[in-house]
Amino acid sequence: MEHLINNRVKNIEISGIRKFFNMVADVKDMVSLTIGQPDFPTPEHVKEAGKKAIDDNITTYTHNAGLIQLREAAADFYRKKYNVDYSSEHEAIITVGASEAIDITFRTILEEGCEVIIPGPVYPGYEPIIKLCGAIPVYADIRNTQFRMTAELIDSLITDKTRCIVLPYPSNPTGISLNEEELKEIAQLLKDREIFVLADEIYSELVYEQQHVSIAQFMKEKTIVINGLSKSHSMTGWRIGMLFAPEYLAKHILKVHQYNVTCATSISQMAALEALTAGIDDALPMKQEYASRRDYVFNRLQSMGLDVIKPDGAFYFFVKIPASNISSFDFCMELVNEAKLAVVPGSAFSELGEGYFRLSYAYSTDTLKEGLDRLESYLRK
Ligand SMILES: Cc1ncc(COP(=O)(O)O)c(C=O)c1O
Repeated sequence: MEHLINNRVKNIEISGIRKFFNMVADVKDMVSLTIGQPDFPTPEHVKEAGKKAIDDNITTYTHNAGLIQLREAAADFYRKKYNVDYSSEHEAIITVGASEAIDITFRTILEEGCEVIIPGPVYPGYEPIIKLCGAIPVYADIRNTQFRMTAELIDSLITDKTRCIVLPYPSNPTGISLNEEELKEIAQLLKDREIFVLADEIYSELVYEQQHVSIAQFMKEKTIVINGLSKSHSMTGWRIGMLFAPEYLAKHILKVHQYNVTCATSISQMAALEALTAGIDDALPMKQEYASRRDYVFNRLQSMGLDVIKPDGAFYFFVKIPASNISSFDFCMELVNEAKLAVVPGSAFSELGEGYFRLSYAYSTDTLKEGLDRLESYLRK
């Protein structure tokens, strides 16, 4: 009876990152630099808050939008860190990871035939949801703009069907972050247009030299901000995300969230409350460590003669494959088989990622050193 399954579902694929990870997971002696998951444990005090929530019987449904104390902490976090003011009561929703926030946003704003402009190469979590909504992803090719989405690129792709622009910065897979001036230009371009911006800021706490700037500062009324604790507090398995949007929009997104999950897990919400209050700066020591790993990896990749842009955030390098006659998938398979090193083929990040591979440095320095040694000797051959 497979023919009865929704065609839109049949036509989407499992994420290329996972596919590749699963394929190489059982290969012996493999060094894997594939996964975008912090290698630090969740901070001890945050874990304790989760345990205490169980002991205190905070194990029931919460308000659909999340515990009000947590929403207040989330709104404070955005106010203090990124200078955007959200009402905890009407403009903040606690979600099941940033992933659910992406899903409920698109399902609230998209209709059949709408277009969504996305920079490519990009995180593969947007396109399938857009397509499930019957909408159309329109890729902005950012390979010639140093992986930066520009107002000019957006302008060239806007049509009367454009409903939303995705701004996923700091970026997975490129590590690039947009600065205030670039964001202001985009906000200026959209000033008189009825187009939403979905700003996925999940890596906002991992920007190295400059301070993260949210585009919501310049166009709050049309922006849906998505964030979460997966990366900042090493809490991928706790599944806590945050969504901020102006009230007229948040009240509709909340309905989709409610019928989807009712609320995020109460225990995780209590841990998140600790993370966003006592642990508001927990990301700082991790960020320092990532920054020194980034410098190490950058120097090594450069000394191998590879074409690579120094990332300013997140924990990825997006590296040009130094040969044009091989697909990124075949190149990565060859690395697996000949060098016992796993990195993710660029094609997992849309067609515009073809010709590149993504290397994650959310791994210990020893693992990074071994992985880079293997890459170097493979390239020498
Ligand atoms: C850009 C981006 N957005 C969203 C997510 C999903 O995050 P979460 O674990 O909060 O669902 C990820 C995870 O890798 C990501 O890289």
